[in-house]
Amino acid sequence: MTTDSKFLRTFEGEIFASPPIWFMRQAGRYLPEYRELRAKAGSFLDLCFNPELASEVTLQPLRRFDLDAAILFADILLIPHALGQKLSFVENEGPRLEPPVSMKDLDAFRERDVVKGLSAVFDTVSKTKAGLAPDKALIGFAGAPWTVATYMLAGGPMKDPGVLRKRLYQEPDFVDGLIDILTEKTVDYLLAQIDAGADAVQLFDTWAGGLPWPVLDRVSIRPLDQISKAIKKARPHVPVILFPKGVGEKALDYALLQGCNGFGIDYAMDPAWARANLAERVVIQGGLDPLLTITGGKAMEDAAETYLKLFHDVPYVFNLGHGFTPETPPENVAALVNFVRRNG
Ligand code: CP3
Repeated sequence: MTTDSKFLRTFEGEIFASPPIWFMRQAGRYLPEYRELRAKAGSFLDLCFNPELASEVTLQPLRRFDLDAAILFADILLIPHALGQKLSFVENEGPRLEPPVSMKDLDAFRERDVVKGLSAVFDTVSKTKAGLAPDKALIGFAGAPWTVATYMLAGGPMKDPGVLRKRLYQEPDFVDGLIDILTEKTVDYLLAQIDAGADAVQLFDTWAGGLPWPVLDRVSIRPLDQISKAIKKARPHVPVILFPKGVGEKALDYALLQGCNGFGIDYAMDPAWARANLAERVVIQGGLDPLLTITGGKAMEDAAETYLKLFHDVPYVFNLGHGFTPETPPENVAALVNFVRRNG
């Protein structure tokens, strides 16, 4: 398959002197034009469900910076919302899902059609795709079942990971049942994004780190295996990128999955280890600590250079090791993109 997209060609094995670039949370509060549109939209959810505005937000970072891919503007918590939990975002507090999920909800969740419930998201995808130049890729995404489950179980961000870890042992049928439902619904959701125009998909497992190893396999690796396999089977040409944060050397277990084409390394992972152990199997993406973009300057550029040098002879996608925070000055992002373009 030939494509003009540097990002997609990287997944076909091509190596570029200056690698393709996109950033996690490239759309968001650090951009004044986002804050303006967000205020106009009303709530964060109103923005996610307004294809016109969500598509504009998706494209905002590409209007400002020389990036190779856009990532759909949505949120990983739209699936619980579509399953019937009430989602809201409280200023300075984060997401809230009410009421916290319990065993009695699972039958109703199983019956829900998330593709029907999230049709606005697919409209955003097709609208965005229509507005993108052919050399730019559009990335769809979903949360990994475990990360989404942590919010559903806690009713918001988990305050004490130990509480959820205990429930993995105390209520195994419930937690596994929930993970299975999320696994199945996530496949439906991602396939619909692909059919609407997404060129690649990424799965965010932000809370995979810190799980005991046999549990990591049970609630993170196994469901991501099932999801990535199902996507590869149905849409073999669409790259699947996994971003399980904080898993250390267990990264190898994810990179070995049959359906995994790309692996997002987080800022804690030693890139030399990733180069030696993962890069022959999958496309490596990311790594740079997003907090370096707050201060910018030489420290940011030196760190970027480390990644560029280590991965110069393998297919690599330049990105962060987690998303931008609202404090990042957009000028530093522009400087980072210029640096990668000049020094790749
Ligand atoms: O540019 C992009 O990256 C695309 C859009 C995107 C958002 N969230 C928009 C958003 C993506 C890919 C996500 C993923 C997401 N959402 C994750 C996984 C990645 C990660 O960051 O770890 C998680 C855990 C969530 C859940 C979530 N959404 C939280 C915890 C919060 C509140 C905390 C925060 O950062 O504000 C959100 C809200 C959210 N999602 C915002 C944005 C731009 C900020 C909302 C606002 O405008 O007020």
